[in-house]
Amino acid sequence: MKAELVYEGKAKKVYRSKSAKDQLILSYKNDATAFNGKKKASFMGKGRLNNEISARIFPYLHEHRIKSHFIERLNETEQLVYETKIIPLEVVVRNLATGSIVKRLGFEEKTPFNPPLIELFYKNDDLDDPLINDDHALLLTDITYKELNEIKAKALEINTALRELFQSINLELIDFKLEFGRLQDGMIVLSDEVSPDTCRLWDRTTSEKMDKDVFRQGIGDLVEVYEEILQRLEARS
Ligand code: TMP
Repeated sequence: MKAELVYEGKAKKVYRSKSAKDQLILSYKNDATAFNGKKKASFMGKGRLNNEISARIFPYLHEHRIKSHFIERLNETEQLVYETKIIPLEVVVRNLATGSIVKRLGFEEKTPFNPPLIELFYKNDDLDDPLINDDHALLLTDITYKELNEIKAKALEINTALRELFQSINLELIDFKLEFGRLQDGMIVLSDEVSPDTCRLWDRTTSEKMDKDVFRQGIGDLVEVYEEILQRLEARS
């Protein structure tokens, strides 16, 4: 049962849960945005698909000893999570060069990063989520140096687990973005969502893009692609 709306983001609404005061309800919206909200659309079914997909990914990560805010899927578009105080960092892990790193630093498209490359962005819409370094992250958030290193190590562990998951459904995990949050007891856990909105996934056979880039670049049907990912995940379990 949900109580008052706590926050509305671009892709989700966050409600307080009536049953427990340290729990929230995430309601996935049909809206899609790109380029910091400059491109916008709504797709019937997108909220359900990202809810269903992330409600399969978080338990998979739990099985791989990755703690997150996720508790359970409640219905088609909602999931129950522990309340966290989001650390305003977007932690991006890259296995192959594409997207902003190609434009920003001139890497050739598909350059492999081995070990995977981690980048930090400051989660701040007014500033357009700028790339930052570790020292900036320590100044701009309440995390310690040790916690920052733990977050990075966790991001790499998540990368290993997710690459395996997606490989098993014939998808290559190119890169993705994570957010972490602090539980009431201070522990830092994976938060937000893990979905085709926040990952780049390429079909291993056809190289077809199967993520939000189909919307960002206007090259395909977002709902069809997300539905295909969900079906592959369902077939796996
Ligand atoms: P980028 O190449 O545009 O920096 O994106 C890196 C990864 O982060 C890619 O998988 C998409 C994801 N991402 C988000 O989840 N949210 C964002 O706002 C941006 C810019 C990227």
